[in-house]
Amino acid sequence: MMLQVIVRPMRLSDIEQVVQIDRLSFSTPWSANAYRFELTNRDTSHLVVLELASPASHPALRWRWLPRLFARQTPAGKLVGYGGCWLIAGEAHISTIAVHPDFRGQGLGELLLASMLKRAILLHGEYSVLEVRESNVTAQALYHKYEYRVIGRRRHYYRDDGEDALLMEARPLDAAYAQRLETRWQALASRIQFDDQFTHAYEPERSFL
Ligand SMILES: CC(C)(COP(=O)(O)OP(=O)(O)OC[C@H]1O[C@@H](n2cnc3c(N)ncnc32)[C@H](O)[C@@H]1OP(=O)(O)O)[C@@H](O)C(=O)NCCC(=O)NCCS
Repeated sequence: MMLQVIVRPMRLSDIEQVVQIDRLSFSTPWSANAYRFELTNRDTSHLVVLELASPASHPALRWRWLPRLFARQTPAGKLVGYGGCWLIAGEAHISTIAVHPDFRGQGLGELLLASMLKRAILLHGEYSVLEVRESNVTAQALYHKYEYRVIGRRRHYYRDDGEDALLMEARPLDAAYAQRLETRWQALASRIQFDDQFTHAYEPERSFL
């Protein structure tokens, strides 16, 4: 059966699960407090999660409005990935992205990145940057697919082992890029059944706390 997920802004109640995925994904994970800070104190931070949707509860299938009405009361379902983007003065800085190890290789990392880029473009992002470990060829392949190019190197960037970071950039996020992004988005929709409540969320994460 096709994977079914909800793409939505991260909430405070998601932090516990996000931190678990973070620990499985990074040697220097963020703390719960770091996520709390991003959600409550940073207007420029746009955090997204992927929540598994059961067929009966999938809003795309029926009762689209019901889960939103009860968004505050409903406990979070199982999260399988998350991402973060800082949007400042036209720059969309991908701060983090991870998929639970049991769910990798199915397009979910791509869905996270594409949703952050879509939102960035909607909010007038002009280019996107990120740092990635030199050895992380999997993530680099994902970024290449979304047209990021290596533009620099940050020496000994990672505190735990001193590995270098590659600085990658996708530029410009213009109308032509948005069109190519849309094509990839449609390709994703043929692999994953998703309900996107993130890219057009008017008041992003803060209204969902
Ligand atoms: C990087 C990460 C988010 C990718 O998520 P994912 O859901 O496994 O990736 P997807 O299935 O969406 O794959 C998207 C693209 O990534 C690349 N990719 C994914 N898995 C790959 C692998 N094992 N080897 C090489 N490239 C791979 C491919 O380009 C792929 O596109 P394709 O399907 O057209 O080949 C995931 O591996 C992860 O969470 N890693 C640990 C955290 C991390 O390193 N984050 C990045 C920090 S900079």
